[in-house]
Amino acid sequence: MASAMNGGGGGVLKKMGLLRVQYYCVMGAVAAAVVVLTARYMPAPTGAGGGAGGTVRASSSTAAAPGGGDERGENVWSAGEERRKKAAAAAAAKAPGVVVFNFGDSNSDTGGVAAVMGIHIAPPEGRAYFHHPTGRLSDGRVILDFICESLNTHHLSPYMKPLGSDYSNGVNFAIAGSTATPGDTRFSLDVQLDQFLFFKERCLESIERGEDAPVDKKGFESALYTMDIGHNDVTGILYLPYDKILAKLPPMVAEIKKAIESLHKNGARKFWIHGTGALGCLPQKLAMPRDDDSGLDEHGCITKFNDAAKKFNALLSETCDDLRLQMTDSTIVFVDMFAVKYDLVANHTKYGIEKPLMTCCGHGGPPYNYDPKRSCMTSDMDLCELGAKFISWDGVHFTDAANGMVAAKVLSGEFSIPRIKLTGLVTPAKPKDSRL
Ligand SMILES: *[C@@H]1O[C@H](CO)[C@@H](O)[C@H](O)[C@H]1NC(C)=O
Repeated sequence: MASAMNGGGGGVLKKMGLLRVQYYCVMGAVAAAVVVLTARYMPAPTGAGGGAGGTVRASSSTAAAPGGGDERGENVWSAGEERRKKAAAAAAAKAPGVVVFNFGDSNSDTGGVAAVMGIHIAPPEGRAYFHHPTGRLSDGRVILDFICESLNTHHLSPYMKPLGSDYSNGVNFAIAGSTATPGDTRFSLDVQLDQFLFFKERCLESIERGEDAPVDKKGFESALYTMDIGHNDVTGILYLPYDKILAKLPPMVAEIKKAIESLHKNGARKFWIHGTGALGCLPQKLAMPRDDDSGLDEHGCITKFNDAAKKFNALLSETCDDLRLQMTDSTIVFVDMFAVKYDLVANHTKYGIEKPLMTCCGHGGPPYNYDPKRSCMTSDMDLCELGAKFISWDGVHFTDAANGMVAAKVLSGEFSIPRIKLTGLVTPAKPKDSRL
């Protein structure tokens, strides 16, 4: 695995641009692939050869899975009218279920990157909830999992996970490490969008042929479209002077806008858009060498990084305001993830959290328990006790416990613009339909 992740990365590295070079310098000393994976919101920037092959394999097998149309091409075209009628009747009888399409990075990746890159993620990942690794970069669930649970629907299957996927309640296109900016990463938002369009076309085509498909036309129209992306874009420019950071934010937000517009053009009407979190409070950032503590705020977070995150969110929120005027037939909700996540740090005692800036799984002990050279998931890590309440799992990603707290706040509607709850957009399935 280490060779697949670390070898032959030159091409990709070049593609990812100069912006990220500084980041790679920080990560340059990292030996094990999994360490890199855990330390960023992204998979290792390498694996150009092996990764590309794996991607193609995974996506073609997955593409065939939902409708099975490709393999059964001959039967399909001879399908009679009767078969078509039967399928239509079955679709009509099926109650409109909850359907969610998610786009994002590791914050909402439910196993995509592990499947695509062929990464074997070892325990303790998953230990707090699933009790085995699932490819989520956490000890348990991500926020999206809690959102699905609140809608009484099962966790979203990653688009490119060939085994055990069930797309009847939608698809998760999120891949750890992804950026909103095209070309910076293999599964940037534009690619995720293309994957969605591919999936949608295949579904509608299957139905047209009289076959079954996981989501029908109505499903696509009434679905919830969620996005949680931009963390990697902002993280990639944090080393710049603040004025340079500000100049680079609008194009990132423009990509998210473009994606929403494109989805809208394709029939999407319900949008749930997450901003970025308190990047300056992440142990990974805090563990970077600094001259003194003058850049830290009253809660020990890096002011400049948090200001950048807040500015990104302000721009994204404004963009959502603009889109609301433009798309009067749609509901576009922006969720202020910075406020949600910063509150967890600032008011940590209220949430039963002792050390808000320290990882549960890392190296080196207090104050941050984070070593850029040896992240969580390498042997002899300093691991917190099971059940201990930590915000940070590995220095970048949240624990199951913290994601649960974040999700509760997200679902409350209190951090939403406009101030509506998710259940104002989507009616949860009846509990009996739940297959958690
Ligand atoms: C901390 O909690 C108080 C009381 O609920 C709230 O007013 C304040 O905004 C919170 N602080 C942050 C940084 O979210």
